[in-house]
Amino acid sequence: MKKNITFTMIKPDAMENGHAGDIMSMIIKSGFKISALKLTQLTIKQAEIFYSVHRKKPFFQELVTFMTRCPIIVAVLEKNNAVEDFRKLIGSTNPENAEKGSVRKLFATSMGENAIHGSDSEDNAKIESSFFFAGREIF
Ligand code: CMP
Repeated sequence: MKKNITFTMIKPDAMENGHAGDIMSMIIKSGFKISALKLTQLTIKQAEIFYSVHRKKPFFQELVTFMTRCPIIVAVLEKNNAVEDFRKLIGSTNPENAEKGSVRKLFATSMGENAIHGSDSEDNAKIESSFFFAGREIF
């Protein structure tokens, strides 16, 4: 039976700065099983839909431009307590406040360009996973 799942994206800043391998290694060493994985590039339309919850925020356009800038890695991850454990691993949204040793402390560029995404609930993890993956691509 599946444990809990979460969904992640390695964002353009981390991809461009060559941190994808180190981040994947941290994820695996922290006990997450990779259930689905791909390299993809969001279109503007897709990014607007994915981040539609933020469409009224002042940083929305900046976020869409950033997230469509280059190919990203997207993945579904499985682990007991996946959402909470993953958010602990990646650290606070703003890398200045991120915990020592967290992915964002080590690799994020700024509040907007913060290296990695982690779902905020298992319900959202399922919605976000199905945005990128067909059921047969999730193992
Ligand atoms: P994340 O939490 O993965 O999803 C929403 C994203 O919006 C967040 O990461 C940041 O990339 C971005 N974001 C959040 N707050 C700001 C902000 N104040 N300025 C710019 N970008 C932001």
